[in-house]
Amino acid sequence: MRFNSSMKVTRDIPSTRTTVADARRSGQRIGLVPTMGALHAGHLSLVEAARRDGAFVVVSIFVNPTQFGPGEDYERYPRDTAGDLRQCEAAGVALVFMPAVADMYRPEAATTVHVARLTETLCGPCRPGHFDGVATVVAKLFNIVQPDVAYFGQKDAQQLAVIRRMVRDLDWPIEIVGCPTVREPDGLAMSSRNAYLSPDERRRALVLIRALRDARGRIAGGERRARVVVEHMRRIVEESRPEHVDYVAIVDPDNLQPVEQIERPVLAALAVRIGRTRLIDNLLIDLAGDGA
Ligand code: PAF
Repeated sequence: MRFNSSMKVTRDIPSTRTTVADARRSGQRIGLVPTMGALHAGHLSLVEAARRDGAFVVVSIFVNPTQFGPGEDYERYPRDTAGDLRQCEAAGVALVFMPAVADMYRPEAATTVHVARLTETLCGPCRPGHFDGVATVVAKLFNIVQPDVAYFGQKDAQQLAVIRRMVRDLDWPIEIVGCPTVREPDGLAMSSRNAYLSPDERRRALVLIRALRDARGRIAGGERRARVVVEHMRRIVEESRPEHVDYVAIVDPDNLQPVEQIERPVLAALAVRIGRTRLIDNLLIDLAGDGA
């Protein structure tokens, strides 16, 4: 299917492969931005990064059922195909790949990609099977599109670490680019799930960035005991009466293991349920307290 401009939309794997192969033959580097749609400024910043790199930009839009657990929000996850296509076209995307669930997961499929260790901390225990679903679908997208470079947000820091590990372990010749988290003016990290928040929950959600900035301030002020930084973060989070705190953690940004003494840049990360919405956020913080 052709969209108004030169943007192309494909729904099946063979025509996606053909379109990408044509672009590659004409000498273009292929840049993939995997998404689940409901696009916002965070996704568009990934597209912009790919455009700046001069890539033939492929955006995949697929609400991947295998990364949602039972009782999670797969059914109600926001979907806005027309709006997504409009935004992709305006952003200069070359190809949008929108497969159907039945094309991505054939009934007889028996293969799952599992990345060990990195998936056992932070969000892993709270969302069993989630990262297997992510790794498997991203592996499939990599095989279908065969990008030279793929773009992911730092907002999902654990996902980014898992994908980097998978690419290294499986020797994929794909460059993984992590892009900075895009925030609302008041600091809330952009997320498709922010659409679920009531006005009161939206206000309470600011507690995530408040806790992260507190951590940054303490580290800049010389605090080196991760336990102390985490205690303060937790206290700030609990002041907003969240429905549940999944975790508040200071971890090594590469292996995601908790650190005791802060001697190198760390990842401060948290996951909090506000109302029915599970929100995550993080900051990479160096010893001077600089971080994004
Ligand atoms: O970050 C997301 O939107 C998803 O986890 C991804 C990478 C598109 C895989 O479904």
